[in-house]
Amino acid sequence: MSKESEKIYAEAAKIWNPDRVATFKKFGFEMVMGKRQGSYFEDLDGHKYINMHSNGGVFNLGHRNFEIRQALIDGAELVDAGNHYFPSRYKNELNEKLLAVSPESMKYVFTLNGGGEAIDAAVKFARRATKRQRVVSLSCAFHGGTGIAMQAGNPKLAEFFNMAPNPKFYTHIEYNNLEQLETVLRKNDTAAVLIETIPATAGFPMPVENYHREVQRLAHQYGALYIADEVQTGMMRSGQMWCCCKFGATPDMIVTGKGLSGGYYPMSAVIMNDKAASWMKIDGFAHTSSFNGTELGCIVAAKVLDILKRPTVKQNIDQLTEFFQQNLSKLQQKHREFLLEVRQCGVIMGLKTAHPLGGQALMVALIKNGVWAVMADFDKSVLQFKPNLLMDQATAKKVISRLDKALTEAQQMISTPTL
Ligand SMILES: Cc1ncc(COP(=O)(O)O)c(C=O)c1O
Repeated sequence: MSKESEKIYAEAAKIWNPDRVATFKKFGFEMVMGKRQGSYFEDLDGHKYINMHSNGGVFNLGHRNFEIRQALIDGAELVDAGNHYFPSRYKNELNEKLLAVSPESMKYVFTLNGGGEAIDAAVKFARRATKRQRVVSLSCAFHGGTGIAMQAGNPKLAEFFNMAPNPKFYTHIEYNNLEQLETVLRKNDTAAVLIETIPATAGFPMPVENYHREVQRLAHQYGALYIADEVQTGMMRSGQMWCCCKFGATPDMIVTGKGLSGGYYPMSAVIMNDKAASWMKIDGFAHTSSFNGTELGCIVAAKVLDILKRPTVKQNIDQLTEFFQQNLSKLQQKHREFLLEVRQCGVIMGLKTAHPLGGQALMVALIKNGVWAVMADFDKSVLQFKPNLLMDQATAKKVISRLDKALTEAQQMISTPTL
């Protein structure tokens, strides 16, 4: 570990986050990011890693994407954050682009900065539109650390901060359980059914057939709005712009974030139909935020969408999808006792192991082999596996050969007391 990394970690333990520092020390992974480009990043000692986490999709277009960087630089020559009170050409351009890649029923876009903030906003919009309060969501979901988003996700996170969700307003159900959903909806007091299309933090369990269509049908039958959290699954990661649409559903609101930033300028958005947007026809000032529709952010996000719409990008995603499908299936055969299941939808992937901490062991083994991927926090038997959408075949091949080695090492490691 370089002197500079050591110094940064020592200071971080004092003024940044003591527990995080202790955790990284425990795993012997005291990372300080250095150079980064495309699928790779380095630490300050020059160790190189392939990024197979992509910060949940923040780096969908890789690190320091040249076109995004240029759009940011050119944009900064022209504008700044702008003023959230006024309309602007850049806001209109981004909103048009987002609506063009969304279901026809979507009519308005409200842009913010973080995914959690956008989830909070979407739930507020649903509560206003339905004049109801209840949110039905998945106990295995993660929607962010803001108030409503945190309470709608796995309740343990809210409980930690003494903010346990009030059962009068929040009901948590199991993923893929439509009976539970209908039982709650029968109370006729639900404002929003909030569903993470494929729950990332639960390790990307795949939906049963027609799940999202049925969620939509039931929500509407009982007067609720369906909000699709596409913060991780959206932006082409499934092979289509929105994963819920790939599954045949048309939600009332789509929430996106992470990748909309291009890895540079925090941006999120609520894309909504007329009903969800009804508050904006009554009092357009009712929900505001200083950085709502930041002009520089709109320029960056518009460039992200331009890139995602290219046929060559779709082609690359399809090739990566097939490559990982074939090669992960081979690895599963080879390591069948440890690698129980490969979950995959496009380049949304979860590697389910046979051990409750197998995903964590695999994460540690991969780091040693120069790959950064993160276990699923709510099910540590699973490793989340998320390449950027532009990854080339040579890098994808390296990922597979390193994973092969790491699977053997992780299986050996799970009996050690350090995990
Ligand atoms: C599915 C999902 N929704 C929402 C969020 C919250 O996004 P943010 O961290 O930008 O607030 C996350 C963050 O990881 C997420 O994974």
